[in-house]
Amino acid sequence: MWRVFHAFFCFCLLLLDGVFGDRDEVKSVSVTEGDSVSLNTDVTEVQRDDQILWTFGPKETRIAEIHRQNIYIDATNTIFEERLQMDNQTGSLTVRNIRTEHTGLYKLQIINIERGISYKRFNVSVYALLPVPVITRNCSRCSSSETSSNKNCSFLCSVVNVSAVTLSWYKGNSLLSSISVSDLSISLSLPLELECLDDSYSCVINNPITNRTTHLNITELCHTCPGTSVTLVIVVVLLKL
Ligand SMILES: *[C@@H]1O[C@H](CO)[C@@H](O)[C@H](O)[C@H]1NC(C)=O
Ligand SMILES: *[C@@H]1O[C@H](CO)[C@@H](O)[C@H](O)[C@H]1NC(C)=O
Ligand SMILES: *[C@@H]1O[C@H](CO)[C@@H](O)[C@H](O)[C@H]1NC(C)=O
Ligand SMILES: *[C@@H]1O[C@H](CO)[C@@H](O)[C@H](O)[C@H]1NC(C)=O
Ligand SMILES: *[C@@H]1O[C@H](CO)[C@@H](O)[C@H](O)[C@H]1NC(C)=O
Ligand SMILES: *[C@@H]1O[C@H](CO)[C@@H](O)[C@H](O)[C@H]1NC(C)=O
Ligand SMILES: *[C@@H]1O[C@H](CO)[C@@H](O)[C@H](O)[C@H]1NC(C)=O
Repeated sequence: MWRVFHAFFCFCLLLLDGVFGDRDEVKSVSVTEGDSVSLNTDVTEVQRDDQILWTFGPKETRIAEIHRQNIYIDATNTIFEERLQMDNQTGSLTVRNIRTEHTGLYKLQIINIERGISYKRFNVSVYALLPVPVITRNCSRCSSSETSSNKNCSFLCSVVNVSAVTLSWYKGNSLLSSISVSDLSISLSLPLELECLDDSYSCVINNPITNRTTHLNITELCHTCPGTSVTLVIVVVLLKL
């Protein structure tokens, strides 16, 4: 009697361990919109009686399954349309041309006759493609100093339609200023006033996984501002003639 109970108790422990031990493991996957993403089962070859089940989102919608060698892929799913693929050897799931709405939790359940049930979770974050920052000059805020080659100008670095990004001004590798948004922002801009000396300024947009940079072209943007002193010099020269 005791032995039977003991065995049963151990079996329960094993089962609990198998189920809940793996459950805590969440693999984070960060990708950019348009990428193809593969979520691996780590199964080398699906056995005849294996069941492999993939679900997505808070409702745990079934999106792909292998059950007794029958393959099911949700091709009518309104979110995924025809983006899902499953490797019939390994059960690994691929989402092609992924969009931001495919961000979420992907759950995998594998049932094997010998090894029992195992679970895996993938927390997939899809980041939007970053726009190229646009640098514009504010001529009404350009001031000329005594030497006509050195003057100060005001610039604005802007991006449209972004979310969860940081926009920053750099001089070489040093950060001058930055601004961040977490929610969707129709327009985000960051001003910078600088002395027109060299081409080492740049504006960078980044999210947690990637960045894009626009370099400030001093020749193009700084020295062509109509400075008042330059105009005066021309007037003086004309008067002398
Ligand atoms: C598995 O996939 C390969 C290549 O995609 C295909 O040739 C084969 O017929 C598939 N097997 C089954 C059982 O669907
Ligand atoms: C998934 O990742 C997001 C962002 O990194 C995080 O906020 C969220 O809590 C994670 N969810 C789970 C279940 O780990
Ligand atoms: C340029 O600077 C002036 C003076 O500060 C300001 O009123 C104007 O809004 C700025 N223009 C742009 C496009 O930032
Ligand atoms: C901003 O994004 C929305 C949806 O993501 C899109 O419909 C709209 O055309 C975008 N606007 C611009 C100016 O890119
Ligand atoms: C130009 O800007 C620099 C800092 O970028 C400042 O030290 C300097 O005084 C400014 N000069 C003028 C003429 O405004
Ligand atoms: C931008 O990304 C590149 C590589 O992806 C990295 O080397 C560089 O440091 C990043 N720049 C910034 C300002 O985050
Ligand atoms: C800056 O702009 C000028 C004029 O458009 C151009 O000739 C020059 O090659 C540019 N410099 C850089 C570093 O892009």
